Formats: sequence, C-alpha cells, structure tokens
Amino acid sequence: MSERTIALVTGANKGIGYEIAAGLGALGWSVGVGARDERRRQAAVERLRANGVDAFGVPLDVTDDASATAAARLVEDHAGRLDVLVNNAAVAGGMPQEPTRVDPATVRAVVETNVIGVVRVTNAMMPLLRRSASPRIVNMSSSVGSLTRQSGAAAERTAGPLAVAYSPSKTFLNAVTLQYARELSGTGILINAGCPGYVATDLNGFRGVRTPAQGAAIAIRLATLPDDGPTGGFFDDAGVVPW
Ligand SMILES: NC(=O)c1ccc[n+]([C@@H]2O[C@H](COP(=O)([O-])OP(=O)(O)OC[C@H]3O[C@@H](n4cnc5c(N)ncnc54)[C@H](OP(=O)(O)O)[C@@H]3O)[C@@H](O)[C@H]2O)c1
Repeated sequence: MSERTIALVTGANKGIGYEIAAGLGALGWSVGVGARDERRRQAAVERLRANGVDAFGVPLDVTDDASATAAARLVEDHAGRLDVLVNNAAVAGGMPQEPTRVDPATVRAVVETNVIGVVRVTNAMMPLLRRSASPRIVNMSSSVGSLTRQSGAAAERTAGPLAVAYSPSKTFLNAVTLQYARELSGTGILINAGCPGYVATDLNGFRGVRTPAQGAAIAIRLATLPDDGPTGGFFDDAGVVPW
C-alpha cells in the first residue's frame, strides 16, 4: 500500500475540481482525477503531472453504477485504499429554472448527478475509505442550497437566481451529508459539505467573481481536517454556513 495520502476528486478535469486536485497534489498526495471524458481527463492528468502532482486518471461518470464500481476497482488496484474522497462533480442543469416552467426531466437529471451521484460514488468507495487511518469525505455543496439564505428578508441578496433544480439539489446534498455523518459517527470518517463561493467556471458561464483556486480552498481545508475535526457540517471560507 502507498505511504502517500490517496485522494479522489470527482469532476476534476476542469474548474474547481481541477484546482482541488492541484491543491491536494501540492501537499504531496497522490490524486485520482475522476472525469467522464477520456480526452479531458488525460489532459488534466498531464497538466497536473507537468506541475509536479502525482496524478492518476480515474474514468468516472457519477451517474453510472458500473462506472463507479470500475473506478473503485481502479483505485484499489492503484493504491489499495482511499484516504480522501471529494465529491465535486455537479451540473447546473441549464437556466432559467423557474419552478412553474421547469421541465421535470431537468430536476431529475440534476438530482441524479448532484445527489444520487454522490451517494453512488461514496458507497462504491466506502470499503476503500474504511481501510484509511483518517478518512475524509468532502461534498461540494453551495450556499444556494441553504434554506436559511433562500428565505427571509435577506433572500434577494443571498439566494442567487431562481434555480428549482440546482439549488434544492444542494439542499438535498446537505441533508444527505448529515445522514452519512450520523451513520459514520464514531468511525473516524469525517464528512462535511463545503461551499466554494461564487467562482468563475463553466457552471455559471464564468460569471463568478472568485478564481477556481480560491473556490478549491474550502475543499482542501475539509480534506485535511485533523482527527478531532468536525463532521456533518456545512462550511465556507468564512466559517459555518447556515442550513
Ligand atoms: N462555480 C461556482 O460558483 C460554484 C458555487 C457553489 C458551488 N459550486 C460547486 O462546485 C463544484 C464544482 O463546480 P465548478 O464550478 O467547478 O463546475 P464546472 O467547471 O462546470 O465543473 C463541473 C465538473 O463536474 C463534472 N461532471 C458533471 N457531470 C458529471 C458526471 N456525470 N460524471 C462525472 N463528472 C461530471 C464536469 O465534467 P465534464 O467536463 O465532463 O462536464 C466537470 O469536471 C460543483 O459541485 C458545484 O455545484 C460551484
């Protein structure tokens, strides 16, 4: 088994996921680049390696059971265990998403990737995580999934655009994170949700104001929590995000 810390980042071929892989790689970790497209995955692995990262490609479509199973087998063959899983892959589902006009298929597709994809990949990786001395799971969420920020007087300022598929998918993901934290309490596996802030990526047509590297910082912090760190929380760079 490798002595390096082994991480897997889903959706690591671009955007925040790529920068999470780069940041974890800069710690000297071995980083699996989870990505569904072979060409984009290979390009990311090569770029990371050129920057000194011990990166390896992991073919992974988070919506596909067989793909998640094969990814777990690949990580097992490569490293024998997994120390850190960052569930970063997500889709916005296309805008606008007004509740009264949305195609139900859009909601279903977004939940399939952003929520069920996390459950699928986490459970596929769980046997490998259980072999780690200090397992960590980071779910990339968003403050637009905060019900507190979607309601009340401040909502116009903090809720973002109407997005009946994307925003509730992150609320759902936060609830799923809590369910895992409850089951895994006492096992040493810490699982938390993180919000990267409003980052310029494909997801929002590059309208965000933060860089992908800035967005990656919270994931790196939650991936490197000490053994007595929090679990079942929701955090951004400023601290706790309200549910
Ligand atoms: N950008 C923001 O302002 C912001 C704010 C709050 C939260 N977030 C969250 O941060 C995370 C990263 O977002 P981002 O802004 O970096 O978005 P992005 O640039 O669009 O990247 C999304 C990544 O997810 C991958 N992906 C999508 N569906 C997938 C699937 N079925 N299987 C495997 N990979 C899949 C994409 O791969 P392809 O290249 O193959 O499509 C891509 O690598 C997401 O969870 C997002 O919700 C972002």
